Amino acid sequence: MGPTFITLEGPDGSGKSTQAALLAERLRQIGLPVVLTREPGGTSVGQKLREILLNPDIKLSVMTEVLLMAADRAQHVQEVIKPALENNMVVVCDRYIDSSLAYQGFGLLGEISQVKAINETAIDGIWPDLTILLDVEPEAGLRRHRQAESEAGRSQCSGRTNGLDRIEQRDLQFHQRVRDGYHVLTRMYAQRFVVIDTTRLQIETVAQKVWEAVAQRIKAAHG
Ligand code: TMP
Repeated sequence: MGPTFITLEGPDGSGKSTQAALLAERLRQIGLPVVLTREPGGTSVGQKLREILLNPDIKLSVMTEVLLMAADRAQHVQEVIKPALENNMVVVCDRYIDSSLAYQGFGLLGEISQVKAINETAIDGIWPDLTILLDVEPEAGLRRHRQAESEAGRSQCSGRTNGLDRIEQRDLQFHQRVRDGYHVLTRMYAQRFVVIDTTRLQIETVAQKVWEAVAQRIKAAHG
């Protein structure tokens, strides 16, 4: 038995959170111990950082945003991810280092070297074994996301406009850079990335594709 660390990534509205929950459920069904977690906000300190990071009424400098995302990650790695992997659990994480590389690196700074160096310190050598990129055109993703948020009645909360948080509210060019950035990352880290185009797919079909990608690695790691 070996530990497995799986991350789900993608532009806003790509359906990651739904897929992360479905994947964790399926792993449990085959008897594996699973920790399902997310960033930002996978610890109690992280919850507070998430509130700051996503609140549209709070103005953050670019470097503050980079460092707060990395601080959330550093706490999450030490408090949740590392102990779970040491206990031979499967960790399913909704966003991780690639989100910082895509959003703060490619999206805000136009390059990733500084964000990568800071985050390498934060993750303490814990890289994912498998990263699933749920790909979607930014426009379609944000539309999907807005719809889900208004159905959940969240549009009136904490300064959100149209149900969008501080980062989601950025212009389409930003979201396009994030999406293109993810594609660069899939080439940089080709061994751990699997890309699933979610554009016209039903949730169940995406879940099946996620499962196919994961089952192979789980078999290798957990026998
Ligand atoms: P979520 O909606 O998937 O929970 O993510 C919250 C937002 O935070 C989303 O717009 C992506 C953004 N984000 C970053 O910009 N950098 C990061 O490192 C992480 C983890 C999230």
